[in-house]
Amino acid sequence: MEIKNEKILIMDFGGQYSQLIARRVRECSVYCELHSYKITAEEIKAKGYMGIIFTGGPNSTYDENAPVCDPEIFKLGIPVLGICYGAQLMAQTLGGKVKSSDTKEYGKTEIECNTSSLIFHAAKPKTVVWMSHTDYISEIPHGFKTTAISEGCPVVAMEDIKRNFFALQFHPEVQHTQEGMLYLRNFLYNACGCTAAWRMSSFAKNTIKELKKQIGAKKVLCALSGGVDSSVAALLVHKAVGNQLTCIFVDHGFLRKDEGDQVESIFRSKFNMNLIRVNAQDRFLSKLAGVSDPEAKRKLIGEEFIRVFEDEAKKLGKIEFLCQGTIYPDVVESGTGEAAVIKSHHNVGGLPEDVGFEGIIEPLRDLFKDEVRQVGLELGIPEQLVWRQPFPGPGLAIRIMGEVTADKLEILRNADAIMREEFSANDLGKSADQYFAVLTDTKSVGVMGDGRTYEYTIALRAVTTSDFMTADWARIPYDVLEKISNRIINEVGSINRVVYDITSKPPATIEWE
Ligand code: XMP
Repeated sequence: MEIKNEKILIMDFGGQYSQLIARRVRECSVYCELHSYKITAEEIKAKGYMGIIFTGGPNSTYDENAPVCDPEIFKLGIPVLGICYGAQLMAQTLGGKVKSSDTKEYGKTEIECNTSSLIFHAAKPKTVVWMSHTDYISEIPHGFKTTAISEGCPVVAMEDIKRNFFALQFHPEVQHTQEGMLYLRNFLYNACGCTAAWRMSSFAKNTIKELKKQIGAKKVLCALSGGVDSSVAALLVHKAVGNQLTCIFVDHGFLRKDEGDQVESIFRSKFNMNLIRVNAQDRFLSKLAGVSDPEAKRKLIGEEFIRVFEDEAKKLGKIEFLCQGTIYPDVVESGTGEAAVIKSHHNVGGLPEDVGFEGIIEPLRDLFKDEVRQVGLELGIPEQLVWRQPFPGPGLAIRIMGEVTADKLEILRNADAIMREEFSANDLGKSADQYFAVLTDTKSVGVMGDGRTYEYTIALRAVTTSDFMTADWARIPYDVLEKISNRIINEVGSINRVVYDITSKPPATIEWE
Protein backbone atom coordinates (compact mmCIF):
# COMPACT_ATOMS: atom_id res chain seq x y z
CA MET A 1 0.00 0.00 0.00
CA GLU A 2 1.75 3.15 -1.17
CA ILE A 3 0.55 5.40 1.66
CA LYS A 4 2.32 3.15 4.13
CA ASN A 5 5.67 3.84 2.50
CA GLU A 6 5.95 6.85 4.75
CA LYS A 7 5.99 5.34 8.19
CA ILE A 8 7.23 6.26 11.61
CA LEU A 9 8.32 3.84 14.32
CA ILE A 10 7.23 4.45 17.89
CA MET A 11 9.50 2.55 20.26
CA ASP A 12 7.63 1.68 23.43
CA PHE A 13 9.61 1.92 26.65
CA GLY A 14 6.55 1.17 28.78
CA GLY A 15 5.16 4.68 29.10
CA GLN A 16 1.49 5.21 29.81
CA TYR A 17 1.13 7.51 26.80
CA SER A 18 2.72 5.29 24.14
CA GLN A 19 -0.54 4.62 22.31
CA LEU A 20 -1.47 8.25 22.58
CA ILE A 21 1.76 9.23 20.83
CA ALA A 22 0.87 6.85 18.01
CA ARG A 23 -2.62 8.33 17.73
CA ARG A 24 -1.21 11.85 17.62
CA VAL A 25 1.18 10.91 14.82
CA ARG A 26 -1.75 9.47 12.88
CA GLU A 27 -3.66 12.72 13.54
CA CYS A 28 -0.78 14.43 11.73
CA SER A 29 -1.74 12.19 8.77
CA VAL A 30 1.38 10.10 9.09
CA TYR A 31 1.22 6.32 9.36
CA CYS A 32 3.08 4.87 12.34
CA GLU A 33 3.63 1.58 14.12
CA LEU A 34 4.18 0.90 17.79
CA HIS A 35 6.81 -1.72 18.67
CA SER A 36 8.64 -2.83 21.77
CA TYR A 37 11.93 -1.07 22.52
CA LYS A 38 13.58 -4.44 21.78
CA ILE A 39 13.34 -3.93 18.01
CA THR A 40 16.83 -4.02 16.49
CA ALA A 41 18.56 -1.53 14.19
CA GLU A 42 18.56 -4.16 11.47
CA GLU A 43 14.80 -4.69 11.68
CA ILE A 44 14.26 -0.95 11.63
CA LYS A 45 16.39 -0.59 8.54
CA ALA A 46 14.59 -3.42 6.78
CA LYS A 47 11.21 -1.87 7.45
CA GLY A 48 12.23 1.49 6.05
CA TYR A 49 10.98 3.85 8.75
CA MET A 50 11.41 7.55 8.06
CA GLY A 51 11.65 8.51 11.71
CA ILE A 52 11.70 7.04 15.21
CA ILE A 53 10.05 8.25 18.39
CA PHE A 54 11.18 6.92 21.79
CA THR A 55 8.31 6.97 24.27
CA GLY A 56 8.45 7.69 27.99
CA GLY A 57 8.70 4.91 30.54
CA PRO A 58 8.53 4.28 34.28
CA ASN A 59 12.25 3.52 34.79
CA SER A 60 15.37 5.55 35.47
CA THR A 61 17.95 5.20 32.71
CA TYR A 62 20.56 4.18 35.27
CA ASP A 63 18.41 1.38 36.81
CA GLU A 64 20.04 -1.98 36.47
CA ASN A 65 17.26 -3.44 34.35
CA ALA A 66 16.27 -0.24 32.59
CA PRO A 67 15.07 -0.85 29.02
CA VAL A 68 17.62 0.33 26.49
CA CYS A 69 17.59 0.56 22.72
CA ASP A 70 19.98 -1.00 20.28
CA PRO A 71 22.69 1.74 20.14
CA GLU A 72 23.20 0.99 16.43
CA ILE A 73 19.90 2.80 15.87
CA PHE A 74 21.75 6.09 16.16
CA LYS A 75 23.95 5.11 13.22
CA LEU A 76 21.12 4.49 10.76
CA GLY A 77 20.80 8.13 9.69
CA ILE A 78 17.11 8.11 10.68
CA PRO A 79 15.75 11.11 12.66
CA VAL A 80 14.97 10.26 16.29
CA LEU A 81 12.74 12.09 18.76
CA GLY A 82 13.06 11.08 22.42
CA ILE A 83 10.24 11.90 24.80
CA CYS A 84 10.68 11.96 28.61
CA TYR A 85 12.43 8.64 29.45
CA GLY A 86 13.22 8.42 25.73
CA ALA A 87 14.91 11.83 25.91
CA GLN A 88 17.02 10.78 28.87
CA LEU A 89 17.93 7.51 27.22
CA MET A 90 19.08 9.37 24.12
CA ALA A 91 21.19 11.71 26.25
CA GLN A 92 22.78 8.89 28.23
CA THR A 93 23.43 6.64 25.22
CA LEU A 94 25.11 9.43 23.26
CA GLY A 95 27.47 10.48 26.05
CA GLY A 96 25.43 12.96 28.12
CA LYS A 97 24.41 12.58 31.77
CA VAL A 98 21.13 11.95 33.53
CA LYS A 99 20.59 12.78 37.20
CA SER A 100 17.87 12.22 39.72
CA SER A 101 16.39 15.31 41.32
CA ASP A 102 15.02 15.65 44.87
CA THR A 103 11.81 17.07 43.55
CA LYS A 104 9.45 15.79 40.95
CA GLU A 105 8.42 18.21 38.21
CA TYR A 106 4.82 17.28 37.53
CA GLY A 107 1.96 18.91 35.69
CA LYS A 108 1.67 22.12 33.71
CA THR A 109 5.03 23.85 33.49
CA GLU A 110 6.09 27.09 31.83
CA ILE A 111 9.03 26.78 29.50
CA GLU A 112 11.10 29.05 27.30
CA CYS A 113 12.12 27.66 23.94
CA ASN A 114 14.38 28.64 21.10
CA THR A 115 12.14 29.19 18.11
CA SER A 116 15.02 29.02 15.66
CA SER A 117 15.37 25.31 16.50
CA LEU A 118 13.66 22.75 14.30
CA ILE A 119 11.15 21.40 16.81
CA PHE A 120 10.08 24.83 18.07
CA HIS A 121 9.88 26.41 14.62
CA ALA A 122 6.89 28.82 14.48
CA ALA A 123 6.13 28.09 18.16
CA LYS A 124 5.52 30.58 20.96
CA PRO A 125 8.80 31.34 22.78
CA LYS A 126 7.10 31.09 26.18
CA THR A 127 4.51 28.38 26.57
CA VAL A 128 3.07 25.68 28.82
CA VAL A 129 3.92 22.00 28.57
CA TRP A 130 3.04 18.87 30.58
CA MET A 131 5.90 17.47 32.65
CA SER A 132 6.07 14.26 34.62
CA HIS A 133 9.59 13.42 35.72
CA THR A 134 12.07 13.17 38.57
CA ASP A 135 15.21 12.47 36.53
CA TYR A 136 16.57 15.09 34.17
CA ILE A 137 19.32 15.54 31.60
CA SER A 138 22.11 17.25 33.52
CA GLU A 139 24.66 17.24 30.72
CA ILE A 140 23.86 17.19 27.02
CA PRO A 141 25.88 14.95 24.70
CA HIS A 142 28.50 16.35 22.34
CA GLY A 143 26.96 17.91 19.22
CA PHE A 144 23.67 18.86 20.94
CA LYS A 145 22.27 22.26 21.81
CA THR A 146 19.78 22.98 24.58
CA THR A 147 16.65 24.34 22.92
CA ALA A 148 14.27 24.83 25.86
CA ILE A 149 14.52 25.39 29.60
CA SER A 150 12.21 25.79 32.58
CA GLU A 151 12.76 27.06 36.09
CA GLY A 152 13.15 23.57 37.47
CA CYS A 153 14.83 21.83 34.52
CA PRO A 154 18.03 22.88 32.77
CA VAL A 155 17.34 20.77 29.65
CA VAL A 156 13.68 20.76 28.71
CA ALA A 157 14.63 20.09 25.10
CA MET A 158 17.81 19.51 23.11
CA GLU A 159 18.70 18.83 19.50
CA ASP A 160 21.54 17.83 17.25
CA ILE A 161 20.41 19.22 13.94
CA LYS A 162 23.27 17.64 11.99
CA ARG A 163 22.30 14.13 12.99
CA ASN A 164 18.57 14.91 13.30
CA PHE A 165 18.29 13.87 16.96
CA PHE A 166 15.76 15.65 19.16
CA ALA A 167 14.72 15.23 22.77
CA LEU A 168 11.82 16.59 24.80
CA GLN A 169 11.65 16.17 28.56
CA PHE A 170 7.88 16.90 28.52
CA HIS A 171 4.98 15.15 26.83
CA PRO A 172 4.02 16.80 23.50
CA GLU A 173 1.26 14.21 23.01
CA VAL A 174 -0.98 15.24 25.92
CA GLN A 175 -3.55 17.97 25.56
CA HIS A 176 -2.11 20.08 28.36
CA THR A 177 0.98 20.77 26.26
CA GLN A 178 -0.34 23.79 24.46
CA GLU A 179 1.60 23.48 21.20
CA GLY A 180 2.42 19.77 21.37
CA MET A 181 0.96 18.94 17.98
CA LEU A 182 3.05 21.68 16.36
CA TYR A 183 6.26 20.16 17.79
CA LEU A 184 5.25 16.73 16.53
CA ARG A 185 4.43 18.09 13.09
CA ASN A 186 7.77 19.88 12.98
CA PHE A 187 9.52 16.59 13.72
CA LEU A 188 7.44 14.55 11.27
CA TYR A 189 7.39 16.98 8.35
CA ASN A 190 10.61 18.98 8.75
CA ALA A 191 12.98 16.43 10.26
CA CYS A 192 11.64 13.17 8.79
CA GLY A 193 10.27 14.60 5.54
CA CYS A 194 6.84 12.99 5.82
CA THR A 195 4.20 14.52 3.58
CA ALA A 196 1.00 13.90 5.54
CA ALA A 197 -0.31 11.40 3.01
CA TRP A 198 -2.13 9.06 5.41
CA ARG A 199 -5.83 9.57 4.70
CA MET A 200 -8.82 7.44 5.56
CA SER A 201 -10.35 7.93 2.12
CA SER A 202 -7.25 6.47 0.48
CA PHE A 203 -7.11 3.79 3.18
CA ALA A 204 -10.63 2.63 2.27
CA LYS A 205 -9.93 2.70 -1.47
CA ASN A 206 -6.63 0.85 -1.20
CA THR A 207 -7.95 -1.68 1.28
CA ILE A 208 -10.90 -2.56 -0.93
CA LYS A 209 -8.50 -3.03 -3.84
CA GLU A 210 -6.23 -5.27 -1.77
CA LEU A 211 -9.11 -7.30 -0.38
CA LYS A 212 -10.33 -7.97 -3.91
CA LYS A 213 -6.92 -9.33 -4.80
CA GLN A 214 -6.55 -11.35 -1.60
CA ILE A 215 -10.03 -12.93 -1.66
CA GLY A 216 -10.39 -13.52 -5.40
CA ALA A 217 -13.37 -15.76 -6.02
CA LYS A 218 -13.34 -17.27 -2.52
CA LYS A 219 -15.91 -16.84 0.22
CA VAL A 220 -15.75 -14.88 3.48
CA LEU A 221 -17.68 -15.21 6.71
CA CYS A 222 -18.01 -12.45 9.29
CA ALA A 223 -19.55 -12.30 12.77
CA LEU A 224 -21.37 -9.00 12.80
CA SER A 225 -22.26 -7.55 16.20
CA GLY A 226 -23.53 -4.14 15.16
CA GLY A 227 -20.52 -2.52 16.87
CA VAL A 228 -18.40 -0.10 14.88
CA ASP A 229 -15.42 -2.37 14.32
CA SER A 230 -17.13 -5.45 12.94
CA SER A 231 -19.51 -3.27 10.90
CA VAL A 232 -16.72 -1.34 9.18
CA ALA A 233 -14.64 -4.48 8.61
CA ALA A 234 -17.60 -6.27 7.07
CA LEU A 235 -18.51 -3.34 4.88
CA LEU A 236 -14.98 -3.06 3.49
CA VAL A 237 -15.11 -6.74 2.55
CA HIS A 238 -18.60 -6.31 1.12
CA LYS A 239 -17.44 -3.41 -1.06
CA ALA A 240 -14.61 -5.62 -2.28
CA VAL A 241 -16.40 -8.90 -2.99
CA GLY A 242 -20.14 -8.26 -2.58
CA ASN A 243 -22.15 -11.38 -1.92
CA GLN A 244 -19.13 -13.62 -1.54
CA LEU A 245 -19.37 -12.29 2.03
CA THR A 246 -21.92 -13.76 4.43
CA CYS A 247 -22.44 -12.09 7.80
CA ILE A 248 -23.79 -13.93 10.78
CA PHE A 249 -25.41 -11.72 13.36
CA VAL A 250 -25.83 -13.72 16.55
CA ASP A 251 -28.55 -11.96 18.51
CA HIS A 252 -27.97 -13.29 22.02
CA GLY A 253 -30.93 -11.33 23.32
CA PHE A 254 -28.80 -9.04 25.46
CA LEU A 255 -28.85 -6.06 23.13
CA ARG A 256 -30.50 -2.77 23.96
CA LYS A 257 -34.07 -2.01 23.00
CA ASP A 258 -34.64 -2.32 19.21
CA GLU A 259 -30.92 -2.63 18.53
CA GLY A 260 -31.09 -6.03 16.86
CA ASP A 261 -33.68 -4.76 14.38
CA GLN A 262 -31.60 -1.67 13.64
CA VAL A 263 -28.52 -3.75 12.84
CA GLU A 264 -30.57 -5.95 10.57
CA SER A 265 -32.18 -3.08 8.74
CA ILE A 266 -28.94 -1.13 8.19
CA PHE A 267 -26.99 -4.04 6.80
CA ARG A 268 -29.70 -5.90 4.97
CA SER A 269 -31.81 -3.04 3.59
CA LYS A 270 -29.35 -0.19 3.30
CA PHE A 271 -26.25 -2.09 2.24
CA ASN A 272 -27.91 -5.11 0.74
CA MET A 273 -25.60 -7.46 2.55
CA ASN A 274 -25.99 -11.18 2.83
CA LEU A 275 -26.94 -11.26 6.52
CA ILE A 276 -28.13 -14.14 8.63
CA ARG A 277 -29.69 -13.14 11.93
CA VAL A 278 -29.78 -15.89 14.50
CA ASN A 279 -32.29 -15.23 17.25
CA ALA A 280 -30.66 -17.22 20.01
CA GLN A 281 -32.03 -15.58 23.15
CA ASP A 282 -33.57 -18.81 24.48
CA ARG A 283 -30.35 -20.72 23.98
CA PHE A 284 -28.35 -18.12 25.90
CA LEU A 285 -30.92 -17.74 28.66
CA SER A 286 -31.06 -21.44 29.32
CA LYS A 287 -27.24 -21.55 29.54
CA LEU A 288 -27.34 -18.75 32.09
CA ALA A 289 -30.11 -20.20 34.21
CA GLY A 290 -29.02 -20.24 37.86
CA VAL A 291 -25.68 -18.54 37.14
CA SER A 292 -24.92 -15.34 39.02
CA ASP A 293 -21.14 -15.06 39.11
CA PRO A 294 -20.02 -12.29 36.69
CA GLU A 295 -17.01 -14.13 35.30
CA ALA A 296 -19.00 -17.35 34.87
CA LYS A 297 -21.65 -15.41 32.98
CA ARG A 298 -19.09 -13.81 30.68
CA LYS A 299 -17.45 -17.17 30.01
CA LEU A 300 -20.69 -18.98 29.29
CA ILE A 301 -21.88 -16.24 26.92
CA GLY A 302 -18.54 -16.25 25.11
CA GLU A 303 -18.59 -20.02 24.68
CA GLU A 304 -22.21 -20.15 23.62
CA PHE A 305 -21.58 -17.39 21.09
CA ILE A 306 -18.93 -19.54 19.45
CA ARG A 307 -21.21 -22.61 19.46
CA VAL A 308 -24.09 -20.71 17.84
CA PHE A 309 -21.75 -19.19 15.28
CA GLU A 310 -20.24 -22.59 14.45
CA ASP A 311 -23.64 -24.25 14.13
CA GLU A 312 -24.70 -21.57 11.70
CA ALA A 313 -21.43 -21.57 9.78
CA LYS A 314 -21.63 -25.35 9.27
CA LYS A 315 -24.88 -24.93 7.39
CA LEU A 316 -23.14 -22.71 4.84
CA GLY A 317 -20.65 -25.29 3.57
CA LYS A 318 -17.06 -24.44 2.68
CA ILE A 319 -15.99 -20.87 3.41
CA GLU A 320 -12.34 -19.97 3.03
CA PHE A 321 -11.90 -16.78 5.06
CA LEU A 322 -13.06 -15.43 8.39
CA CYS A 323 -13.27 -11.63 8.65
CA GLN A 324 -12.72 -10.00 12.05
CA GLY A 325 -12.91 -6.42 13.30
CA THR A 326 -9.59 -6.49 15.17
CA ILE A 327 -8.21 -2.96 15.56
CA TYR A 328 -4.73 -1.69 16.36
CA PRO A 329 -5.14 -1.30 20.15
CA ASP A 330 -6.21 -5.00 20.28
CA VAL A 331 -3.04 -5.94 18.41
CA VAL A 332 -0.82 -3.80 20.62
CA GLU A 333 -2.47 -4.88 23.85
CA SER A 334 -2.30 -8.58 23.11
CA GLY A 335 1.35 -8.07 22.15
CA THR A 336 2.47 -6.91 25.59
CA GLY A 337 0.08 -8.82 27.84
CA GLU A 338 1.43 -7.33 31.06
CA ALA A 339 -1.79 -5.92 32.46
CA ALA A 340 -3.69 -7.85 35.12
CA VAL A 341 -6.97 -9.43 34.07
CA ILE A 342 -9.74 -7.48 35.81
CA LYS A 343 -12.52 -8.75 33.59
CA SER A 344 -12.37 -11.17 30.71
CA HIS A 345 -13.20 -8.56 28.09
CA HIS A 346 -13.63 -9.26 24.44
CA ASN A 347 -14.79 -12.75 25.19
CA VAL A 348 -17.66 -12.39 22.79
CA GLY A 349 -16.80 -12.32 19.15
CA GLY A 350 -13.37 -13.75 19.84
CA LEU A 351 -13.69 -16.73 17.56
CA PRO A 352 -11.34 -19.70 17.73
CA GLU A 353 -8.86 -19.87 14.91
CA ASP A 354 -9.33 -23.59 14.43
CA VAL A 355 -12.80 -23.53 12.92
CA GLY A 356 -11.41 -24.59 9.60
CA PHE A 357 -10.70 -21.37 7.77
CA GLU A 358 -7.88 -20.94 5.31
CA GLY A 359 -7.13 -17.49 6.62
CA ILE A 360 -8.28 -14.61 8.78
CA ILE A 361 -9.03 -11.23 7.24
CA GLU A 362 -8.55 -8.24 9.53
CA PRO A 363 -8.83 -5.10 7.42
CA LEU A 364 -8.69 -2.75 10.43
CA ARG A 365 -5.62 -4.22 12.12
CA ASP A 366 -3.64 -1.04 11.64
CA LEU A 367 -6.28 1.49 12.67
CA PHE A 368 -7.16 3.29 15.86
CA LYS A 369 -10.81 3.63 16.85
CA ASP A 370 -11.19 7.21 15.61
CA GLU A 371 -9.73 6.16 12.26
CA VAL A 372 -12.18 3.24 12.06
CA ARG A 373 -14.99 5.73 12.63
CA GLN A 374 -13.72 7.92 9.81
CA VAL A 375 -13.61 4.95 7.46
CA GLY A 376 -17.14 4.05 8.55
CA LEU A 377 -18.36 7.52 7.66
CA GLU A 378 -16.50 7.35 4.32
CA LEU A 379 -18.35 4.12 3.56
CA GLY A 380 -21.74 5.65 4.40
CA ILE A 381 -22.48 3.92 7.71
CA PRO A 382 -25.06 6.06 9.58
CA GLU A 383 -23.61 8.46 12.16
CA GLN A 384 -25.61 6.96 15.01
CA LEU A 385 -23.89 3.61 14.45
CA VAL A 386 -20.45 5.08 13.83
CA TRP A 387 -20.62 7.12 17.04
CA ARG A 388 -22.33 4.40 19.06
CA GLN A 389 -21.01 4.34 22.61
CA PRO A 390 -19.06 1.22 23.52
CA PHE A 391 -21.22 -1.73 24.37
CA PRO A 392 -19.76 -4.83 26.01
CA GLY A 393 -19.94 -8.10 24.12
CA PRO A 394 -22.00 -9.86 26.82
CA GLY A 395 -24.38 -6.88 26.66
CA LEU A 396 -27.14 -6.37 29.17
CA ALA A 397 -26.34 -9.74 30.76
CA ILE A 398 -23.51 -8.06 32.69
CA ARG A 399 -25.70 -5.08 33.55
CA ILE A 400 -28.12 -7.36 35.38
CA MET A 401 -26.55 -8.26 38.69
CA GLY A 402 -26.93 -11.90 39.51
CA GLU A 403 -29.01 -14.34 37.50
CA VAL A 404 -30.27 -13.15 34.12
CA THR A 405 -33.91 -13.85 33.26
CA ALA A 406 -36.21 -12.75 30.45
CA ASP A 407 -38.25 -10.62 32.89
CA LYS A 408 -35.19 -8.81 34.21
CA LEU A 409 -33.98 -8.20 30.66
CA GLU A 410 -37.28 -6.59 29.79
CA ILE A 411 -37.09 -4.31 32.87
CA LEU A 412 -33.54 -3.24 32.14
CA ARG A 413 -34.14 -2.71 28.41
CA ASN A 414 -36.99 -0.34 29.16
CA ALA A 415 -35.15 1.55 31.89
CA ASP A 416 -32.05 1.89 29.71
CA ALA A 417 -34.12 3.14 26.78
CA ILE A 418 -35.64 5.87 28.99
CA MET A 419 -32.21 6.98 30.13
CA ARG A 420 -30.99 7.17 26.53
CA GLU A 421 -34.10 9.02 25.39
CA GLU A 422 -33.66 11.64 28.11
CA PHE A 423 -29.98 12.04 27.38
CA SER A 424 -30.70 12.75 23.76
CA ALA A 425 -33.73 14.95 24.51
CA ASN A 426 -31.52 17.06 26.76
CA ASP A 427 -28.59 16.98 24.36
CA LEU A 428 -26.35 15.30 26.92
CA GLY A 429 -24.77 12.87 24.47
CA LYS A 430 -21.49 14.78 24.65
CA SER A 431 -21.53 15.16 28.46
CA ALA A 432 -20.79 11.47 28.93
CA ASP A 433 -18.73 9.02 26.90
CA GLN A 434 -20.76 6.08 28.10
CA TYR A 435 -24.06 5.93 29.97
CA PHE A 436 -26.44 3.14 30.82
CA ALA A 437 -28.73 1.64 33.41
CA VAL A 438 -27.90 -1.33 35.63
CA LEU A 439 -30.46 -3.62 37.23
CA THR A 440 -29.11 -4.30 40.70
CA ASP A 441 -29.99 -7.47 42.55
CA THR A 442 -31.24 -5.39 45.48
CA LYS A 443 -34.88 -5.06 46.42
CA SER A 444 -35.97 -2.39 48.84
CA VAL A 445 -39.10 -1.17 50.52
CA GLY A 446 -41.03 1.73 49.07
CA VAL A 447 -44.47 3.22 49.20
CA MET A 448 -46.72 3.86 46.25
CA GLY A 449 -50.22 5.23 46.68
CA ASP A 450 -51.20 3.80 50.02
CA GLY A 451 -49.38 0.56 49.68
CA ARG A 452 -46.02 -0.88 50.59
CA THR A 453 -43.81 -1.98 47.67
CA TYR A 454 -40.81 -4.25 47.65
CA GLU A 455 -39.12 -3.88 44.27
CA TYR A 456 -35.81 -3.65 42.44
CA THR A 457 -33.32 -0.78 42.43
CA ILE A 458 -32.03 0.60 39.13
CA ALA A 459 -28.62 2.26 39.12
CA LEU A 460 -27.79 4.88 36.51
CA ARG A 461 -24.17 5.10 35.37
CA ALA A 462 -22.67 7.86 33.20
CA VAL A 463 -18.96 8.45 32.85
CA THR A 464 -16.54 10.76 31.12
CA THR A 465 -13.34 9.20 29.86
CA SER A 466 -10.96 9.45 26.96
CA ASP A 467 -9.52 5.95 27.01
CA PHE A 468 -11.94 3.87 29.16
CA MET A 469 -8.96 2.84 31.30
CA THR A 470 -9.80 5.52 33.84
CA ALA A 471 -13.07 7.40 34.09
CA ASP A 472 -14.90 9.98 36.13
CA TRP A 473 -18.62 10.03 36.86
CA ALA A 474 -20.43 12.56 34.71
CA ARG A 475 -22.01 15.60 36.35
CA ILE A 476 -25.50 15.16 34.93
CA PRO A 477 -27.96 17.96 35.83
CA TYR A 478 -30.24 17.03 38.73
CA ASP A 479 -33.40 17.85 36.81
CA VAL A 480 -32.48 15.36 34.08
CA LEU A 481 -31.73 12.69 36.68
CA GLU A 482 -35.04 13.46 38.32
CA LYS A 483 -36.91 13.11 35.03
CA ILE A 484 -35.21 9.80 34.27
CA SER A 485 -35.95 8.51 37.75
CA ASN A 486 -39.64 9.49 37.59
CA ARG A 487 -40.10 8.03 34.15
CA ILE A 488 -38.41 4.74 35.05
CA ILE A 489 -40.57 4.30 38.14
CA ASN A 490 -43.78 5.27 36.40
CA GLU A 491 -43.24 3.56 33.06
CA VAL A 492 -41.16 0.45 33.68
CA GLY A 493 -42.76 -1.37 36.60
CA SER A 494 -41.02 -3.59 39.19
CA ILE A 495 -38.74 -0.66 40.14
CA ASN A 496 -39.29 1.52 43.19
CA ARG A 497 -35.85 3.13 43.60
CA VAL A 498 -33.31 4.74 41.26
CA VAL A 499 -29.77 5.64 42.33
CA TYR A 500 -26.94 7.45 40.53
CA ASP A 501 -23.45 5.94 40.62
CA ILE A 502 -20.88 8.57 41.70
CA THR A 503 -17.77 6.39 41.68
CA SER A 504 -14.85 7.00 39.39
CA LYS A 505 -12.66 4.30 37.82
CA PRO A 506 -10.55 3.35 39.70
CA PRO A 507 -11.65 2.25 42.27
CA ALA A 508 -14.83 1.07 40.49
CA THR A 509 -14.96 -0.12 36.89
CA ILE A 510 -17.32 1.36 34.33
CA GLU A 511 -19.54 -1.70 34.09
CA TRP A 512 -20.84 -3.23 37.29
CA GLU A 513 -19.80 -6.77 36.42
P1 XMP B 1 -14.75 -1.64 32.61
O1 XMP B 1 -16.06 -2.13 33.16
O2 XMP B 1 -13.67 -2.67 32.65
O3 XMP B 1 -15.03 -1.34 31.08
O4 XMP B 1 -14.32 -0.35 33.24
C1 XMP B 1 -14.19 -0.59 30.24
C2 XMP B 1 -14.85 -0.50 28.88
O5 XMP B 1 -14.91 -1.79 28.27
C3 XMP B 1 -16.25 -2.15 27.99
N1 XMP B 1 -16.40 -3.59 28.27
C4 XMP B 1 -16.32 -4.55 27.33
N2 XMP B 1 -16.15 -4.49 26.00
N3 XMP B 1 -16.32 -6.86 25.87
C5 XMP B 1 -16.15 -5.64 25.27
O6 XMP B 1 -16.01 -5.59 24.06
C6 XMP B 1 -16.52 -7.00 27.19
O7 XMP B 1 -16.66 -8.10 27.70
C7 XMP B 1 -16.52 -5.78 27.96
N4 XMP B 1 -16.68 -5.52 29.28
C8 XMP B 1 -16.59 -4.17 29.45
C9 XMP B 1 -17.09 -1.30 28.91
O8 XMP B 1 -18.41 -1.12 28.42
C10 XMP B 1 -16.30 -0.02 28.95
O9 XMP B 1 -16.53 0.76 27.80
